[in-house]
Amino acid sequence: MKVIHTAEALGIALNKIQGKGNFGFIPTMGALHEGHISLVKRSIIENEFTICSIFVNQKQFNNTADFEKYPSTIESDLAKLASAKCDIVFVPTNDQIYPKGFISPYYALGNIENVLEGFYRPGHFQGVCIVVNRLLDLIKPSKMYLGLKDYQQCMVIQKMLELIGLDKSIKLCFVETIRDAQGLALSSRNLRLSEDAKRKALVLINSLKKAKDILIKNTNAELSTIKAAAIKDILNAGFESVDYFDFIDQHFDLIKSNEESKNTIAILTAATIEGVRLIDNIQIYTT
Ligand code: PAJ
Repeated sequence: MKVIHTAEALGIALNKIQGKGNFGFIPTMGALHEGHISLVKRSIIENEFTICSIFVNQKQFNNTADFEKYPSTIESDLAKLASAKCDIVFVPTNDQIYPKGFISPYYALGNIENVLEGFYRPGHFQGVCIVVNRLLDLIKPSKMYLGLKDYQQCMVIQKMLELIGLDKSIKLCFVETIRDAQGLALSSRNLRLSEDAKRKALVLINSLKKAKDILIKNTNAELSTIKAAAIKDILNAGFESVDYFDFIDQHFDLIKSNEESKNTIAILTAATIEGVRLIDNIQIYTT
């Protein structure tokens, strides 16, 4: 496995394998766990070459403290990628991604960047698009792998590819959320939780499953009642606050009324426990 730190060295390494097969790319911010590695493994199965990036992108953190607290476990990250048989790991410094004079583009993402994560983390999705676009310019993969754990991010990046005209040349592959044995979605942020909080945090997936069941059984239950009950359960389990527990349609519009509830494609939530903000979601049309 090659570990590369500069854009120039990356270009040279990629030139050597150009034309020899497809590149699969997995962008990450490190502190890798089995969720990230599942994306790498999927890429290895589907491509001749797999490239993973590790870069904690300050531009997507609307909160400086969150950026500063972001865990860094580079040695164990590299060991995990090597044992997964990743071909190239790109670990750039900030000036390699954002060289002097770099001007951040603006992406007209529309409504999706104003709701849910977009509402609670202003500027976050612009920052994600800026770094992913930059990485795609450097790597030019055939496929990019993203985790459905960050459902809204998947939809934002899909929209960004359309906006920059890369949606036909880069295939996006969305990968199911990997969870621990109890069902907690794996996240780098879980490293900051006590065992007690991890146990309590199971209420997120359990509330999502419960809401999905009620929706699927078409009981005519009021959406507002389902939502209020879920928020109450999450708070009762020990969360300090719930930012949202919402239903969205395929255009990423929030479902507001019972008449529209049949259009729900996913339910998403974000809540904070022990000062750590967790997100999770469930899709409606999958098991
Ligand atoms: P990061 O949080 O490191 O996540 C990298 C990728 O791993 C994302 O596509 C994310 O959805 C996926 N992932 C995280 N936890 C997962 C889980 N439990 N199961 C499956 N996949 C999971 O997302 C980012 O970094 C950044 O925003 C990035 C796209 C790299 C841009 O900076």
